[in-house]
Amino acid sequence: MDNFFITKDFDWQIRRSSHLDRALNLVAKPFGFRANTAHFVDELIHHLSGLSFASTRSGVSTNVEQRMNMYHLVSQTIAYDIDGDLVEVGCNEGQSAVLIAKIIRSFNSEKKLHVYDSFEGLPATRTEDGESYRKGDLATSEDVLRNNFRIHGLELPTIHKGWFDQTLSEGLPEKVCFAHLDGDLYESIMVSLEYVYPRLTPGAICLIDDYCDTSINPNGWNHLPGVKEACDEFLAEKPEQICYLYSGAFTHGFFRKK
Ligand SMILES: C[S@@+](CC[C@H](N)C(=O)[O-])C[C@H]1O[C@@H](n2cnc3c(N)ncnc32)[C@H](O)[C@@H]1O
Repeated sequence: MDNFFITKDFDWQIRRSSHLDRALNLVAKPFGFRANTAHFVDELIHHLSGLSFASTRSGVSTNVEQRMNMYHLVSQTIAYDIDGDLVEVGCNEGQSAVLIAKIIRSFNSEKKLHVYDSFEGLPATRTEDGESYRKGDLATSEDVLRNNFRIHGLELPTIHKGWFDQTLSEGLPEKVCFAHLDGDLYESIMVSLEYVYPRLTPGAICLIDDYCDTSINPNGWNHLPGVKEACDEFLAEKPEQICYLYSGAFTHGFFRKK
């Protein structure tokens, strides 16, 4: 399968709006507003001309560089037949889950995708998490995720609704070949690692969103410092180390289970 769908289906908003929205949100967020200029412009154009721009509301969670990295990492685990299923811990509206599901389908693989989210947004933050988010941010609904899968003609993943400590303790596949950890906060990433790590099979990939190593990339967008703190703490006594990946204005890293 070619991977042009990564830019066609998803990445039309992020390049033209993310920096502007971040600037506007500095002013708007304390008043409870969230700027999404691309969405606003597209709604306006749609209203005036009837044209639609995208099949999913995109450009919020991941950028094209991250999706390229994810494409190759997911493909690797399937092509090399690493034992186990795929999980995304923190799926929100399913932007990256749709990408993962498309790749599974392109291989005609029997592997299953499991996704996890409260759909009520983030739990309480700690000082380690910085100022980017507050409790309840990123709330969405399972229906939005289901609709995104429907739009792309994809089989639904197994959806585990609830807080990670509950859903991961009860509903993880026995073996995991690929995990995307995208819980944003120190506690959420720590609990994800505690449950997922023992299920990763040899060669499995664990990709962690928002991991930012400013010693490698001083200009990296280090907006969720709790993510790196949790990973570094968890992996300190483990044989694996994070490989920090280039991802444009966003940031993430992965490790491969030994
Ligand atoms: C950045 S979003 C995920 C974005 C998604 N991976 C994507 O690329 O579209 C983070 C999600 O993690 C969820 N989350 C964070 N901590 C959680 C926890 N402890 N339990 C359940 N959900 C949590 C939030 O509800 C939110 O939807």
